[in-house]
Amino acid sequence: MTPFALRTPTQEPDLATAMRVVYQWSYAPEVEELRRLYVKAAEAQWVAARDLDWERPIDEEKLGATPLGLGLPIERTAFWRSLGEGLRRTLTRRTAIFRLSNFLHGEQGALMVAAQLVNAVPHIDAKFYAATQTMDEARHVEVFARYIGKLGEVDPIAPPLKGILDATLATGDWMQKLVGMQIVVEGLALYSFREMRNLTAEPLLRDILGYVARDESRHHAYGVQYVARCVPCLAPGERTALEDFAIEAARALIDNTSGQGMFSAMLRLWAEAGIDPVEMLTRLRSEGAGLSRSVPRRLGPMQGFVVPTLRRLGLLSDRAAARFHEVLRANLGGEVAGEDLETFLARLPELPADVAAWALSEIE
Ligand SMILES: [Fe+2]
Ligand SMILES: [Fe+2]
Repeated sequence: MTPFALRTPTQEPDLATAMRVVYQWSYAPEVEELRRLYVKAAEAQWVAARDLDWERPIDEEKLGATPLGLGLPIERTAFWRSLGEGLRRTLTRRTAIFRLSNFLHGEQGALMVAAQLVNAVPHIDAKFYAATQTMDEARHVEVFARYIGKLGEVDPIAPPLKGILDATLATGDWMQKLVGMQIVVEGLALYSFREMRNLTAEPLLRDILGYVARDESRHHAYGVQYVARCVPCLAPGERTALEDFAIEAARALIDNTSGQGMFSAMLRLWAEAGIDPVEMLTRLRSEGAGLSRSVPRRLGPMQGFVVPTLRRLGLLSDRAAARFHEVLRANLGGEVAGEDLETFLARLPELPADVAAWALSEIE
């Protein structure tokens, strides 16, 4: 162990952030639904060291057989089959570590934003709730770090995720922090946790994702319930600025057209393992048309969850919808995103009636 020091070699240079700290002198419950959520969160606390079986070794067979879970059905392609068993396993494991590492770093960002919210939000119930979320996020950092520690390697944070965490921490507007973290980043995370839990048979990972997804569904509920109260109070210009913040956060994560999104970051790892990304994408594209007819359409986290949440909150004006459609179409094609705006909007699903049950795949 390295000796204790005030500055550690692994920390980043400080990030200057803006945040107005606000006292609230009324302690009476005011936003009832947030007060109830706070009580629920307190009751649902769990202890990582006690409630998960860390003695179990990771089942590498099962982890290595976890489907990639990418938007493209790569596993169904002749290209994938041509790679050979060894390389396929390497890529699958690298992809799992990439995703888990970014879950981990994202959790650290969530931990710090949740702590900021305690200071920045004006309503006492919202401060209480953010305090429970801060505790939850500490636990999430703990469990992902411990799990990845058993695998032996952590990838550095992917630049687009770092960018959106920085922007959410740095903004002086608490509602932007709420929308950036609770709605965009956590919406995406909740969707991804659910998906990975459904795809993997690795027992410890499944247990971890179950516990974490249950907490995250509350965090999402906090964002939805609180922002839903706030949006009707905004002036048109303020609402537009909030929409823009959400659009930019989402775009930074999913837009790979300039080689800057999460998928591009993952491809760079694949390149290190010996895959030529240009050749891969060309071959996938030539096989893709046939595949998209035979494989059910997969909406992905933005279209399947984040954009529907924004719509529910009144943060999807025609202007915002057009922008989302444009970005999604450029990245996923018209087959998935819809050729025109009308189709895009018609394909957006309703949010699940019970997000917690949905997160655990107890309902579709
Ligand atoms: Fe979390
Ligand atoms: Fe969270």
